[in-house]
Amino acid sequence: MRITVIGSGYVGLSTAVCLAACGHQIVCVDVLPERVASINQGQVPFYEPRMPEMLSAGLSSGRLRATGDLGEAIVSSEVTFICVGTPQAEHGIDLSAIATAARQVGAALRHTSGYHVVAVKSTVIPGTTDTLVRQMLERHSGRTVGQFGLCVNPEFLREGWAIDDFMHPDRIVIGQWDEKSGQVLTEVYRAFECPMFFTTLRNAELIKYTSNALLATLISFSNEIAALCEATPDTDVREVMRALHLDHRLSPLVNGKRIRPGILNFLWAGSGFGGSCLPKDVNALRAYGREQHVPLPLLDAVMTINANRAAYLEQLAEKALGSLSGRRITVLGLAFKPGTDDLRESPALTIIRLLLDKGAQVRGFDPLLTTTPRSLNIDARVSLCATPEYALREADAALVTTAWPEFAQWDWAQLCRLMRQPVIIDGRNVLSEVVWPPATRYWSIGRVVENGT
Ligand code: UGA
Repeated sequence: MRITVIGSGYVGLSTAVCLAACGHQIVCVDVLPERVASINQGQVPFYEPRMPEMLSAGLSSGRLRATGDLGEAIVSSEVTFICVGTPQAEHGIDLSAIATAARQVGAALRHTSGYHVVAVKSTVIPGTTDTLVRQMLERHSGRTVGQFGLCVNPEFLREGWAIDDFMHPDRIVIGQWDEKSGQVLTEVYRAFECPMFFTTLRNAELIKYTSNALLATLISFSNEIAALCEATPDTDVREVMRALHLDHRLSPLVNGKRIRPGILNFLWAGSGFGGSCLPKDVNALRAYGREQHVPLPLLDAVMTINANRAAYLEQLAEKALGSLSGRRITVLGLAFKPGTDDLRESPALTIIRLLLDKGAQVRGFDPLLTTTPRSLNIDARVSLCATPEYALREADAALVTTAWPEFAQWDWAQLCRLMRQPVIIDGRNVLSEVVWPPATRYWSIGRVVENGT
């Protein structure tokens, strides 16, 4: 099928390269000329594993190209996915990019004669597609919905796993204006074997938010239980959560096998959730609740617990070192999670700010981020180090803020020798299997903290 994808961020470009791999003919549209040029040259404008290979495969097969000309793309396609950003605004989310895209798609539809389906992939609050998007499309195309198709098709991919998640989805949710619209998307996804879930436009919009709100709730829940464990001798939040996960309602058996609960199963206590999606989506849902006069105390608490994580970690550092003034603290991990270089809403940045406010000298290390703090929009007082040895030399403490699995593979016996004092605060519980040299003080989340252990 011939498909236009508007917006070439994580969601748009993942959609484009994966659908091209399924045999569809894809045109990516973006308002940024440099982004269009970089896609056509096979350069992925952000870090995402497997994306460069997928993009070059799409380009060399002739099934993928990018353009800035939305009208030209639409007239030669049957389906358009809207994948533009919906950033956080003061009261809810900013829908201006969605409105612009819908207006331009509507105007382009005037010059088409065939049936065309517009599918919103961007995360939007319930009712947006049925009101704003539909109105824009109808007004500018001169047609009424039904003459063109309208769907909501949310995306559930994770940064760092975008290609795998897109190609092997748990489910494909299709909110449809009418059956005819949904049928066209069934064709788009004919190569996929997962369940297709057909529903209303508003349900599909709400499913996306509900999904992220549940993940955020699980994380704050595990952080709340972690706090209880820290006050209760002989408990360990990791043990509690591992056993909890074995409940068949959380980890069902698949072909007689249970997927082993792991670090990314969303009950892993730590420094809290960040990124461009979970915090934004929970806040958007809360704003929607306020607008509808529906109190959402659970989601309010989820955000409050999350916001308190950074202060808690800074306080742990104070507990370990006393005054932080002049202390050298190495923050290990800057991205909001492992497998990405994305700093958006990263808990590490909030923790760094608090440490600097207390007068600490902060050094940072992240496997994917080795440029200058300024270019990353990080406080210029932070020195970014290219190697763990450089980062930890003469440090008074190391504070782990991102769950990079490779941290556990380092030679900690040697690294601890380089430190001024071997104090390790593991804010992500990733170093629990490390055998520490004597005299190391290793503190982790969700266990009683004992001085000198
Ligand atoms: C999230 C969802 O997982 C995706 O399903 C969704 O499609 C995506 O948002 C989106 O809306 O586009 P992502 O933002 O890539 O994906 O990040 P996650 O893997 O969900 O991690 C979010 C944060 O939670 C990270 O800071 C991570 O460190 C933290 N986390 C995760 C924990 O603290 N504990 C856990 O057990 C799991």
